[in-house]
Amino acid sequence: MIKRKGIILAGGSGTRLYPITLGVSKQLLPVYDKPMIYYPLSVLMLAGIQEVAVITTPEDQSQFQRIMGDGSRWGLKLTWITQASPDGLAQAYLLAREFLDGAPSAMVLGDNIFFGHALPNILKRADEQATGGTVFGYRVADPERYGVLDFDGENVRGIIEKPVNPPSNYAVTGLYFLDGTAPERAAQVKPSARGELEITSLLESYLSDGLLSVERMGRGYAWLDTGTHGSLLDAGNFVRTLQERQGLQTGSPEEIAFENGWISRDDLLKIAEPLGKNSYGKYLRSIAAAKNKT
Ligand code: TTP
Repeated sequence: MIKRKGIILAGGSGTRLYPITLGVSKQLLPVYDKPMIYYPLSVLMLAGIQEVAVITTPEDQSQFQRIMGDGSRWGLKLTWITQASPDGLAQAYLLAREFLDGAPSAMVLGDNIFFGHALPNILKRADEQATGGTVFGYRVADPERYGVLDFDGENVRGIIEKPVNPPSNYAVTGLYFLDGTAPERAAQVKPSARGELEITSLLESYLSDGLLSVERMGRGYAWLDTGTHGSLLDAGNFVRTLQERQGLQTGSPEEIAFENGWISRDDLLKIAEPLGKNSYGKYLRSIAAAKNKT
């Protein structure tokens, strides 16, 4: 089986966060102590993915590169792609076609934050599926704002975009594991009434071939939105509460790279050095010093 590659879709216009995002990409804003993009990046790393394409607007690319470079300090290989205008989530597969080169992929939206004890397990299950696609359903109080899953028992029967009468409370989250046919399927997708290549249309192509599975994220998970002023602050507070209570980081690429054996103790210490005595630097030093990694 060809190794799965990752895509982070971090373009968009972020209009709901104006005036902040007039000058900086949403996905570079802080979620407590880290740039937002660290969180979706960490999800891909937890899935064992080391080859990742980051899609940004042309204007913002250099700022992302200043933070993330070529990814080698995290044991990753990053490819940089630009999206000239925000023409929809499914366009990512057209832009990343060459990068994917037939490989299966995991795409995550740059503004989605996931947290949950068993996250690595469900990611692994999705990764093991060589053909078809997997989406992750999360129970929300206000499904009418999202793409909503229509279930037939445990199977998905349909996905309905922003339904007036939602068939379930399960929203489709911004994480998609698709097989190597995604770019050719995306090429068949026609722009919607709002002029975008919709991810729902791409997923429907899998669905109509009986090739779409769903992993439900139960109440032991958090899927957080960061698209509005309030939800961005809530996400930051969530991360802060969790980290201060546990003394553990969530969404730290350095920690995951070290745990995965992609970087050495020395590499970790080298990254911590310029961070000085701040809490993030201290944390990385403490992991490097721990004899027992757990
Ligand atoms: P959205 O939150 O739907 O859009 P946005 O980020 O432009 O924000 P707003 O609605 O406030 O204008 O996008 C979800 C994620 O997908 C976000 O991380 C940006 C990204 N995205 C792209 O990179 N390209 C696109 O064409 C679209 C539609 C979104």
